[in-house]
Amino acid sequence: MAGQKTFYLETFGCQMNVHDSEKVIGTLEQQGYARVETEEAADLILYNTCSIRDKAEQKVFHRLNDYKALYKQGKRFGVLGCVAQQEGERIFERAPFVSLVSGSASYRRLPEMLVQIEQGATRVTGLDDRQTEETFETEFTARSNPHRGYITIIEGCDKFCAYCVVPYTRGKERSRRSESVLAEARRMAGAGYTEIQLLGQNVNSYRDPEGKHSFAELLAAVGEVPGIRRVRFTTSHPRDFTRDIVEAIDAVPTLCDHVHLPVQSGSSKVLRMMAREYTREQYLERIGWIKGAQRPISMTTDIIAGFPGETAEDFEETLGLLDEVQYDGVFAFKYSPRPNTPALSMADSIPDEEKSKRLQILLDRQREIQRANYEKHVGQVLEAMVEGVNAARGQVVGRTSQNKTLNFTTGQPIAPAPGVYVPVLVTKAFPNSLVGEAVQ
Ligand code: SAH
Ligand code: SF4
Ligand code: F3S
Repeated sequence: MAGQKTFYLETFGCQMNVHDSEKVIGTLEQQGYARVETEEAADLILYNTCSIRDKAEQKVFHRLNDYKALYKQGKRFGVLGCVAQQEGERIFERAPFVSLVSGSASYRRLPEMLVQIEQGATRVTGLDDRQTEETFETEFTARSNPHRGYITIIEGCDKFCAYCVVPYTRGKERSRRSESVLAEARRMAGAGYTEIQLLGQNVNSYRDPEGKHSFAELLAAVGEVPGIRRVRFTTSHPRDFTRDIVEAIDAVPTLCDHVHLPVQSGSSKVLRMMAREYTREQYLERIGWIKGAQRPISMTTDIIAGFPGETAEDFEETLGLLDEVQYDGVFAFKYSPRPNTPALSMADSIPDEEKSKRLQILLDRQREIQRANYEKHVGQVLEAMVEGVNAARGQVVGRTSQNKTLNFTTGQPIAPAPGVYVPVLVTKAFPNSLVGEAVQ
């Protein structure tokens, strides 16, 4: 590898960032860079950052400060992703040894930005504003898993929820042509992929620029690509969630029986303050559609605890919603005030201690709901896609169509390979995973 340019890339944040990193890695490799596993071994060190909560943002600056010494050895640093777009050139002040700052809307210019760094430029920026119509597609995407992969269908977000940085960090909403999505799905199927996850901050507001497919139609079309056995999609926004999505899941067996539908709060008053554009009742109407499907569909959600003005009664409404919906998983976060967002001007009125308390109550309540939900699978035979092995436990690690972890034994000396589908009898349940035995 003598003389070869090397890079290290670490990813923070959501699936969009994970998939962007796969595209960035492919682009860098195309430019003659080889990826290495440690910062020490790299010429160029990149962090693909997340700014969704303050903690996520702080992590990056801590990390950058840790590596000051490496800069002196001639290494170069780049900050990519949401903190890059949010902080822009201020990053050069906060971390003076950074040479590259680029948000996701500028990645298509990475090759030229790399050349500038190689030529010694110290303040290279890719901070295209939110006006771009383009999406970032590349045929060089370096997917990290050979069996299941992401496809971006929509970038950016125009929702401007009061607490959220995403519309500022990822620019305006722009959809990719359905023909291009389907071509990528077919290419992946041809390369041996069996599971595809369609990605966007709000996949339900997908609008085919050529007007050929609605989101539900695109979903069904991806599910019908020969060779594809599982299709997932994330994230759904309740306001744009339409009944034909459930109808598509009913009609196309490869569409997974799982919907992630972030609610954020069970109180219509708080939802209004959050500018979520739906009420508790409208949300529950959508849940009703999902519960009316022919197959039981697993539901998961996101919740924010302690949004400004959230009273004890509002919080009780959120707990009541958990009981009513019976989610299989909840990602809950304490409200974190973020730069540029409308909620920043509302007083962050709930003390941190109270936010922590509410978060804990919520997670405890949800744990009991999940304990009962997961228990219902005992005695069923579910198909697991193998992800790997847990050698310490002597179990194969698998995932069900409902996106639940299913650890199982096979009674065979050699474990099935990752990517293989195995029917498994569920024998035991925990609040976050299932245990079973392969059916011979
Ligand atoms: N586009 C998706 C998710 C975006 S971010 C949606 O609309 O649901 C993922 C989750 O982070 C959000 O669902 C929300 O629960 C949480 N989140 C976003 N901003 C936050 C903030 N300022 N403080 C705490 N949690 C936040
Ligand atoms: Fe953020 Fe709301 Fe957009 Fe989701 S829909 S990314 S929460 S602004
Ligand atoms: Fe974080 Fe940006 Fe995703 S802020 S959650 S990495 S869109």
